Amino acid sequence: MRYFLAGIILLNSIFSFSQNALFIPDTISGTSFSLQLQQGSTNFYSGITTSTMGVNGNLLGPTLFMNQHDFVSIQVENQIGDTTTIHWHGMHVSPSNDGGPHTVILPGQTWNPQFTVLDKASTYWYHPHLHMRTNEHVQKGIAGLIIVRDQEEAALLLPRKYGIDDFPMVIQTKAFDVNGEIVTTQTALDTSLMINGTVDPYLDVPAQVVRFRVLNGSSERVYYLGLSNNQSFYQIGSDGGLLSSPVALSRLQLAPGERAEILIDFSALNGQNISLISYGAELPNAIYGAAQPGMGGGQVIPNYTSNPLNGSNFSLIEYHVGSPTSNPISTIPTSLVTHSPWQEANAQATRSLTFTPVTMGPGAINGPFLINNMAFDMMMINYYIPFENIEVWSLTNQSPIAHPFHIHDVQFYILDINGVPPSPSLQGRKDVVLVPAGNTTVRFITRFEDHFNDTLPYMYHCHMLTHEDMGMMGQFIVNGPTAIQENEKPAATIIYQSSLSSILIETPSILNNEILEIFDVSGKKISQHFYSGNRLQVDVSSFSDGIYFIHFKSDVYKNEKFIKW
Ligand code: C2O
Ligand code: CU
Repeated sequence: MRYFLAGIILLNSIFSFSQNALFIPDTISGTSFSLQLQQGSTNFYSGITTSTMGVNGNLLGPTLFMNQHDFVSIQVENQIGDTTTIHWHGMHVSPSNDGGPHTVILPGQTWNPQFTVLDKASTYWYHPHLHMRTNEHVQKGIAGLIIVRDQEEAALLLPRKYGIDDFPMVIQTKAFDVNGEIVTTQTALDTSLMINGTVDPYLDVPAQVVRFRVLNGSSERVYYLGLSNNQSFYQIGSDGGLLSSPVALSRLQLAPGERAEILIDFSALNGQNISLISYGAELPNAIYGAAQPGMGGGQVIPNYTSNPLNGSNFSLIEYHVGSPTSNPISTIPTSLVTHSPWQEANAQATRSLTFTPVTMGPGAINGPFLINNMAFDMMMINYYIPFENIEVWSLTNQSPIAHPFHIHDVQFYILDINGVPPSPSLQGRKDVVLVPAGNTTVRFITRFEDHFNDTLPYMYHCHMLTHEDMGMMGQFIVNGPTAIQENEKPAATIIYQSSLSSILIETPSILNNEILEIFDVSGKKISQHFYSGNRLQVDVSSFSDGIYFIHFKSDVYKNEKFIKW
């Protein structure tokens, strides 16, 4: 029997033997990060050694702590003996720092992205993104969390002691062959469940309010989280930031690529054990993980029904509640952060994306899937987007299975799902949204700001990694300011100072606390200044020689070019 571990898992899912302490990944903080992608081995099950890949270790990678506004530098050394890339999922970085399929790291090479952290406090993640090989490298073990902190979050009374009252939870499933090796072909069934690489985990938690940063890092499976005692828990964050206020939930759906920060109040449970369950039996059909993965009875994934995780309720982790810590957080805040989503009336473009299988009929559920009738092509740019455009993207799923759609560069706000505004837990900043089957349309709004690059694209794709690898992906370029038509706008003047070490920028009218940004030709932001009055001298002595653009954030003036030599 090929999937020999299925039987073990079946027992565990029914009786919930939780026997392994949850592994908590190490941390790296500061502004300089050193990551070595390496090969290794892991004993997921006692007596069985599995070849894996990890970052600074055998499996998964350290949790990176970054502060908003810090300028960070990351050394990514590739020692896996294979070409790969590393993408900072959810983070708002320039195309050259994004780690998409075009930014390959050859075996033995080191890649050094550097960027200013513009993101809001939230939980992001990093993982490989090599075209057609993403699933393989992620499944073998390369993935880690990034926790961004900011002042807004720091001012709130929330648990934030990593490994004490604030825990990472990377939920994944894998398929193993008879030799205990990870199988990553599309037909491999993911019968083995793990959190942070730990199978059958338990975790000692204090009897107080505890925060969990949950990532669905699985290739295909959707989870439907709830507590075994049916107590409510509170979602405080979605993919790209905190929600406006905590949302009390008894169930939370999490699709591949999505993150949620939740609070569980264990105060009244000292001495007890409770489990976090995935209520797969309650998942609507036409979602991977439900009893039926497709629309209608005709849609079949080979061996799907023999996977004990499908359509059933199973324990993800058992919490063993013990004594509280000193100074515990004991209350759930009433409000969190303020959101000001872009308004649809201000959208400058609407793009429609339709998902279809390559072939209709009974096998359609197995893909490949297309976006607007096209498979991914490295050489083909699907959209050119003017810098700073506010856009509505309308996603329609005409295939028989739900797809988690992810876009690079930006966070978005969901406008509606089949015309209905999203539930409170989906009203925050998002970079992945599950688009249900059955011709469902999900619309979101976003703005393509801060970064541009006229040649290097960003990706959008299905985050079911098997679908992505089979071509359910596209790419877009955010064009730089010179490509924008803005003849009607007045111009600022740039005067070169005699020494060439500074420039003087003058505007025809007086501005008040305007933000002035300077970009290089690759679209990388080099500096940012406050512009008040009608002139500003900018020191460019530290700039390397080349062409730069000045850009007024509120777009009152044309973007101007200057040359440093
Ligand atoms: Cu999490 Cu394009 O990826
Ligand atoms: Cu998909």
